[in-house]
Amino acid sequence: RARLVVLVSGAGSNLLALLEACEEPSYGAQVVAVLADRACAGFDHAARAGVPAQVVAPGDFPDRPHWDQALVRAVTAWEPDLVVCAGFMRLLGPGFLERLPGRVVNTHPSLLPDFPGAHAVRDTLAAGADRSGATLFWVDEGVDTGEHIAQVEVEVLPGDTEATLTQRIKAAETPQLVAQVGRLAREMVRGEGLQGAGAGADPEVAQDV
Ligand code: GAR
Repeated sequence: RARLVVLVSGAGSNLLALLEACEEPSYGAQVVAVLADRACAGFDHAARAGVPAQVVAPGDFPDRPHWDQALVRAVTAWEPDLVVCAGFMRLLGPGFLERLPGRVVNTHPSLLPDFPGAHAVRDTLAAGADRSGATLFWVDEGVDTGEHIAQVEVEVLPGDTEATLTQRIKAAETPQLVAQVGRLAREMVRGEGLQGAGAGADPEVAQDV
């Protein structure tokens, strides 16, 4: 089974869905560790599921590059096939992406390239957009600029608040994330390597699983 490391910062509902999917062996993946940048509900889900979880908080390091290095060490120690950012609200530094090229995906609550950044739902409402959604993409060094893997659309309804729209997006986002991560994992298990940006067709990916 493909080895997943999941990065979280918040509620962890996407992590929870991944953990549940991984209970079924045919899903093709296992969450080997959860890393968080702060104490959060996602971290608690991991602990309850018996998955090793660790907080690597920027405040514990003298500067951003030191935090980035510590995160790289913490993640690579688990030899992940795929790193899944599931509500991880920090930018990954170049050092991180150099060590894990083509292996990091992120899910974002908008139809990218519209509304990148940390406040996508709020920005969608402020712009008066009538549709929104979620995008799963390969992480690159930009802010939500990487190659898209999948996108799902939802309506923005009159009277929507940040909470109601977030909920509608998550209802579509979570199944997309679970389906696509499972597909990527099974492709790796079958030795097809990763499809998509920086796919890096690394033959070792297949041998590791
Ligand atoms: C998800 O909707 C995810 O798209 C978003 O945070 C939420 C996390 O929910 N991520 C971003 O906004 C990243 N820019 P969760 O903690 O319940 O999985």
